[in-house]
Amino acid sequence: MKILENHNLKNLNTFAVDCYCDQFAEIQSLSDLEALPHNIKITEMLIMGSGSNILFTEKLNRFVVRFKPRKHITVVDNLVVAWAGTPWHELVMWAVDKNLGGIENLAYIPGLVGAAPFQNIGAYGTELRDSLVWVEVYNWHTGLYHRLSNEECLFSYRHSVFKYHDQPWVISRIGLDLRSDSPINISYQPLQDKFAKQSKPPTYKEVAQAVTEIRQSKLPDPSELANAGSFFKNPVIDPQVAKRIQRRFKDLPLFETKHCQEQKTSAAWLLEQCGFKGHREGDAGFYDKHALILVNHGHATGQELLKMTKMAKRAVKVKFGIELEEEVRVL
Ligand code: EPU
Repeated sequence: MKILENHNLKNLNTFAVDCYCDQFAEIQSLSDLEALPHNIKITEMLIMGSGSNILFTEKLNRFVVRFKPRKHITVVDNLVVAWAGTPWHELVMWAVDKNLGGIENLAYIPGLVGAAPFQNIGAYGTELRDSLVWVEVYNWHTGLYHRLSNEECLFSYRHSVFKYHDQPWVISRIGLDLRSDSPINISYQPLQDKFAKQSKPPTYKEVAQAVTEIRQSKLPDPSELANAGSFFKNPVIDPQVAKRIQRRFKDLPLFETKHCQEQKTSAAWLLEQCGFKGHREGDAGFYDKHALILVNHGHATGQELLKMTKMAKRAVKVKFGIELEEEVRVL
């Protein structure tokens, strides 16, 4: 394994900000993983996929390990097993081409497979936890592999056990239960609209294609406008609190959640009400077509982007009394 010193991660994060790290290595295989030094402390390590959900704000005194994208998918005991370095969208397309359902609503989500359990990726009424059976981790202190069941991953909305960063784990592979009789979910309005004129139910592949088109039309392509998708989570709020806010703001959007009793509101709507949609200071701003997308128009630094997010959080807190929580990992 080649270890680089004082490496710039600018081309490896979709916000395209400069960030130097102490040491840097790329891995492509299990043997690369096993060659990682055993003695690195958890706080001195950073495991990266494609850098599409991370905001760097300062120099990293860490050993950065980056998965080099490489598709590797097999079927073992009826489960689909994917290597962590597989690009997520390639896994979705592999599945729908074989008429296997369960992750078609998660089409076109950027990033690699290993990052998917980390934040329990979700879109259009589906989350990774709905089809995930196990996550295999490599412990770089002991050199051993270990499998966590779905329950052990402690999944919730954009959250998992992996976010605690208190174990020396690198996610190496995941096992998914994808089936040819998995129910189609086109309950979200944009998907219903897409299939309104179609008499027979869509195939998994058609759903994946529709989701891809919707995402392409809503979200900026990071190669054209640097961003990391939704910057904040949609706040989960108590129904009582929701009622109180709705007395003053009648249009407050509220969505039921599949996995918990509370309701979610729209972070994009809250930000838009506070005037952040399209707001820009220097090269840091929020996308003019979707208020939840923090964007780097060119040469913004991580600190400038961070400052913009803090302003937005403060404004939402003052106006609505709601505390926005970052979805993107800020380092
Ligand atoms: N809205 C506004 N202003 C805007 C944009 C949206 O008011 O500028 C309101 C509208 O009422 C709209 C609602 O927000 O109906 C929801 O918007 P959208 O369908 O774009 O979804 P979202 O809640 O902003 C979430 C996920 C996305 C996922 C979509 C579709 C989070 C943090 N984000 O976004 O995930 O693709 O739903 O399911 O949960 C991501 O995690 O990076 C991501 C893009």
